[in-house]
Amino acid sequence: MTTLILGGAGRSGSRIIDRLVTAGLPVRSASRRTGFDWDDRSTWEVSLRGASAAYVCFTPDLAFPGVPEKMKALGELAAKEGLERLVLLSGRGEEGARMSEEALRKGGVPTTVLRCSWFQQNFSEHFLTGPVRRGHLRLPAPDVPEAFVDLEDVADAAVVALTRTPPEDATYELSGPELLTFAQAAAILGNACGRPVTFEAVDVATFVDDLAADDVPTAEAEPLAYLFTDILDGRNASLADGVEQLLGRPPTSLASYARRTADSGVWS
Ligand SMILES: NC(=O)c1ccc[n+]([C@@H]2O[C@H](COP(=O)([O-])OP(=O)(O)OC[C@H]3O[C@@H](n4cnc5c(N)ncnc54)[C@H](OP(=O)(O)O)[C@@H]3O)[C@@H](O)[C@H]2O)c1
Repeated sequence: MTTLILGGAGRSGSRIIDRLVTAGLPVRSASRRTGFDWDDRSTWEVSLRGASAAYVCFTPDLAFPGVPEKMKALGELAAKEGLERLVLLSGRGEEGARMSEEALRKGGVPTTVLRCSWFQQNFSEHFLTGPVRRGHLRLPAPDVPEAFVDLEDVADAAVVALTRTPPEDATYELSGPELLTFAQAAAILGNACGRPVTFEAVDVATFVDDLAADDVPTAEAEPLAYLFTDILDGRNASLADGVEQLLGRPPTSLASYARRTADSGVWS
């Protein structure tokens, strides 16, 4: 009854592993450091073998060309290896990701899809950590609100989806509890840090240059620029009830995340 966490070394996967280990459930992590590589299908079978369920976190982005083919192959292999459920991390409002979701389901294994808003942890564990520390967010973000979701809520939701009986073939949209522009988010982060965090709208080229200066690898910069240029057009400017549905409680606010995170010292 082992649960396999594809992308287990990452931000969402490691949180899910912690929760399953704490619950005393058998779990196995897979990523390149354990020999599993999305770009080398010969590594997949041995990774899936013996698992009864899998959390699927694809890097860099489900919406990219060629990924539906990989998801189809993974779904079919999961069925062949006898997995009883899959939980897929996806993004809200991403048409390309819809194709990957459908392709994974083609293998016939019951699949719960978690379509998430922007992670709040982008400000503390990813490309926006440096800008928040410096007190200045420079982003190609229009004045469009986003419902930033806490990765702790996403991990809690994924654990429910991975463990409840019977497995569910369903799709949930997960967001935070409020819609905020990046300027409003910056003000909330500044409040938690006890010093101003300002927001400045810049073009994509400037943003990509800033990412390079912050040592964000090119492979990660491309999906990030895509998120800003393709997704932030208002399509996700609505609240979703997936956290409430799966956890029976409201999602965590950005202010609550920001206070907790400031206390951890990551922005000091
Ligand atoms: N950031 C957001 O706001 C947001 C919002 C909604 C959805 N998403 C989706 O969330 C996913 C990222 O989730 P995350 O932040 O939890 O993951 P992550 O921290 O970016 O990475 C997960 C792990 O994937 C592994 N990995 C990278 N390339 C790999 C490869 N070629 N083969 C196998 N493993 C590989 C890495 O470990 P190794 O180095 O050991 O391989 C990495 O630690 C993406 O699909 C993204 O679209 C993100």
